[in-house]
Amino acid sequence: MSKSTNSSTFATSGGSSTSGASAADDATAGKAGKGGHGIRISGVSRTYPGMSRPAVDDVSLDIAPGEFMTFLGPSGSGKTTMLSMIAGFAGLSTGSISVDGADISRLKPHRRNLGVVFQHYALFPHMSVARNIGFPLRQRRLPKGEVQAKVAEALALVRLEEFADRLPKQLSGGQQQRVALARAVVYNPRALLMDEPLGALDKKLRDQLQGEIARMHRELGMTFVFVTHDQEEALTLSDRIAVFNEGRLEQVGTPTELYESPQTLFVAQFLGESNVFSGTTDGRPAVVRPERLHLHPSADTVPDGHLWREARVTAIAYVGNHHRIGLHFSDGSTGSAMRLAGTELPARPGETVLACWDPRNHSLVTG
Ligand SMILES: Nc1ncnc2c1ncn2[C@@H]1O[C@H](COP(=O)(O)OP(=O)(O)O)[C@@H](O)[C@H]1O
Ligand SMILES: [Mg+2]
Repeated sequence: MSKSTNSSTFATSGGSSTSGASAADDATAGKAGKGGHGIRISGVSRTYPGMSRPAVDDVSLDIAPGEFMTFLGPSGSGKTTMLSMIAGFAGLSTGSISVDGADISRLKPHRRNLGVVFQHYALFPHMSVARNIGFPLRQRRLPKGEVQAKVAEALALVRLEEFADRLPKQLSGGQQQRVALARAVVYNPRALLMDEPLGALDKKLRDQLQGEIARMHRELGMTFVFVTHDQEEALTLSDRIAVFNEGRLEQVGTPTELYESPQTLFVAQFLGESNVFSGTTDGRPAVVRPERLHLHPSADTVPDGHLWREARVTAIAYVGNHHRIGLHFSDGSTGSAMRLAGTELPARPGETVLACWDPRNHSLVTG
């Protein structure tokens, strides 16, 4: 996936035509060449007054220029607190945060030059779409002509050219969130921070806007920091994902790394389905993804070097393009295997099988 830094090459997926949406002359000014700006989080903690446990606990993370970084974790794991500290809405108890090497920890939010979007769009209800988007520019006292040009460019970016004169209440939730996105990037911030921006939308709109956000990222080349508790959303959008659990970073990696090589039980179980087997050579549990597990009627057919556990097939569910085979292992634990639809099913419910896997396909994890 190449990251275009040319503002006039608009992707045309999604069907709507964007020809003629080319930007004003200075539109590329802030597109900081390839890659935007890097954010470094060093040993950051925050303990809210009266709380015994830190909401964010000694987090260190480098976000690369132009990267799409997602904070993923369950509710209460510290994602919003971490994002708020980057934005400047919450103070740090320890550590520092820098952009391009300069410490921003003590700057007021508006001095950090970061765009922010929340779950609830927080548009000004009495202002038109265009005036909403132009607001940060007027605040920065840009000349009128420049405001108009930048607003036009931002409207084109989120494909709302025809809605410039509407009021927020005359827009759908998805459109309102696109206005919020346009308003957050119109002044060319050093990064865009988003806290569950799709959380209030229904599934279809959410999918649509996911595509829009991915396209914006490609077109702007800007650093994006995105918060979600939805693993699918994180896997779809991100260059890398930082998994949060109880205020701590569990693991940071590309979607593939996290899925194929989880380092902790938490990551294995939060992202995708896992079979967890104890009793490996070094004592750590082994995680095997359902598609890596093969079912055999007897030990004769298990390939040399593969490991196996006895299991009873509990149920077989047809899930769109594959079958999910529920398993009950002899040690009492449960798990699943997966087969593409159209392939022969290896067993029937009630049958006992050997669930086997190539040890190269398991990940040893820490509890
Ligand atoms: N303003 C606050 N005052 C006290 N505790 C808070 C406040 N905001 C969040 N917390 C606590 O900090 C922890 C992390 O919360 P948060 O950062 O909102 O997590 P997430 O965004 O992952 O759901 C939770 O235990 C939450 O209850
Ligand atoms: Mg939150």
